[in-house]
Amino acid sequence: MSKVAPSILSADFSKLGADVQEICECGADYIHVDVMDGAFVPNISFGAGVMKSLNQVATIPYDVHLMIEAPDRYIEDFVTPNTEFITVHQEACRHLDRTIQHIKSTGCKAGVALNPATPIVMVEDVLDKVDMILIMSVNPGFGGQKFIPRALDKIRRLSEIREANGYDFVIEVDGGVNTVNCSDLKSAGTDILVAGSAVFKAENRKEAITVLGK
Ligand code: DX5
Ligand code: ZN
Repeated sequence: MSKVAPSILSADFSKLGADVQEICECGADYIHVDVMDGAFVPNISFGAGVMKSLNQVATIPYDVHLMIEAPDRYIEDFVTPNTEFITVHQEACRHLDRTIQHIKSTGCKAGVALNPATPIVMVEDVLDKVDMILIMSVNPGFGGQKFIPRALDKIRRLSEIREANGYDFVIEVDGGVNTVNCSDLKSAGTDILVAGSAVFKAENRKEAITVLGK
């Protein structure tokens, strides 16, 4: 069993509220909120205002993925009654330890994301402080990309490090996750699967969420 976090980047923005309501009713565990600034990644998505409006319909917590430069400037904006995780990119933080403390000081859980080219060693010295490590299995910026298989090995290694040291962060994977590759990801040690297209483009969203979460 793992948790499922549909990414609303793949939702229909013209009826975002209804799409969010639907995935809440379909058994999803988190709403994965992809925030892009057009600088850290080559795309712009939406900001805290949109996310705050969704508090009116969301009945499950937010898992906020900040793909933005110098995220400390915006942490407070994303703290809402539905926000459980706020995740920043290691590559976007000059003082990662401070940023983790900043997120935690707001009462939210702190996550750190690693791009496909960033090795685990880059977060080794904060593994005892984080609540989540997000392994990117695509280069961030767009939904609907192809899964990079090396992420699987990275998750296995991270899971071994967690086990060996008694750490308690959760492992999340994001990018190209689908109902076929999800079993291997779960066996490798993934706790939360992010899925954009695999949920929102599915003919039956409820079934997709159920299969992913099994
Ligand atoms: C990529 C985003 C992902 C993306 C996932 O930059 O962080 O969350 O929306 O979409 P799929 O599941 O379609 O790869
Ligand atoms: Zn994401």
